[in-house]
Amino acid sequence: MTGPTDPPIAAVTGATGFLGSRLCRRLLADGWTVRGLCRPTSDRGDLEGVEWHVGDVLDTETLRPLVDGADAVFHLAGIGLWSAGPETVREVNRDGTERVLEACRDGDVGRVVFTSTSGTRRPQGDADFADETDVAEPIGAYQASKAEAEDLVDRYADTDGDAVTVHPTSIFGPGDGAFTAQLLSMGVERTMPAHLPGGLSIVGVSDVVDGLLAAYDRGTAGEHYILGGENLTYDRAVSRIAETVGGSPARIRVPATAIHAAGPVAEVVDAVADRRVFPFDREMATLATRRLFYSSRKASEELGYEYRPLEAHVPEAMEWYQAEIR
Ligand SMILES: NC(=O)c1ccc[n+]([C@@H]2O[C@H](COP(=O)([O-])OP(=O)(O)OC[C@H]3O[C@@H](n4cnc5c(N)ncnc54)[C@H](OP(=O)(O)O)[C@@H]3O)[C@@H](O)[C@H]2O)c1
Repeated sequence: MTGPTDPPIAAVTGATGFLGSRLCRRLLADGWTVRGLCRPTSDRGDLEGVEWHVGDVLDTETLRPLVDGADAVFHLAGIGLWSAGPETVREVNRDGTERVLEACRDGDVGRVVFTSTSGTRRPQGDADFADETDVAEPIGAYQASKAEAEDLVDRYADTDGDAVTVHPTSIFGPGDGAFTAQLLSMGVERTMPAHLPGGLSIVGVSDVVDGLLAAYDRGTAGEHYILGGENLTYDRAVSRIAETVGGSPARIRVPATAIHAAGPVAEVVDAVADRRVFPFDREMATLATRRLFYSSRKASEELGYEYRPLEAHVPEAMEWYQAEIR
């Protein structure tokens, strides 16, 4: 591609998802032309202004016109073990990425920004934090499929085109009926357990969107960037949510979406909480008791990436949470 089009064009896979819909809104607000991939069954919500391409991430015929002529291809379509079996997970995450890259190779495309997961990295030995270099042996089909997809993206960046990979940690924000709804319910419900083992990096969805745009603007081709947030023990995260929403355990029902989307997670905590709490599948359950903390230093230094504290993201998420259960 010779240079950016005016207005710039973005192609977004996973445009109807939690992160993708937020990214589309931001791109539209910033004046981009936005093409979104959606399936016939996808809920497009209130996303107005997106040029929809209906199909599947495994369908090359749909992908070609989606990406051809795009300055940026944000590849976010993905699926976890909480909503599909291992074969489908591999198909969508690994093969889907392969199809997207094929379409990009065939077309005239600027930069591909691939959204993987921090789960392909883990703190090594006694280290407190993981960074991009801490490549971990994948646990389960989700991590394995993302790791394989990362290799495909690296190879594409080496030989065919321009691509960068971002690794968000656990994303918190409105519209996420899984992790966010669970964490909020723990902060406001009297019935939730007071003490949980382990910890994680929690990043606001708006910060991840900033990171995606920064990776497009300033990332180096072939590089990987962790997009993390605050590293918190579960206890600390839950108590800070409780403090932010007024400190009194609200009498709020858990939304059906939270229960529906919870998916298989750390069983020991599930048993205590009588609810699924961790953003892990069954195979990854042992990780739930660890502190999975991440450093976003590279993204900060090279992309100018910044994240805000959990409190900054709670009000918007809480507003959504309360509306969801009415
Ligand atoms: N949420 C997190 O904490 C987190 C953390 C790290 C990385 N990530 C990664 O970030 C990306 C977005 O996550 P998210 O939380 O926004 O997930 P999400 O809400 O489940 O959205 C997934 C998106 O992928 C689409 N999709 C799934 N299978 C598809 C297929 N076969 N063809 C076309 N589209 C398909 C979905 O379409 P439908 O609307 O039709 O279902 C949806 O738009 C994923 O790649 C995920 O692995 C997420």
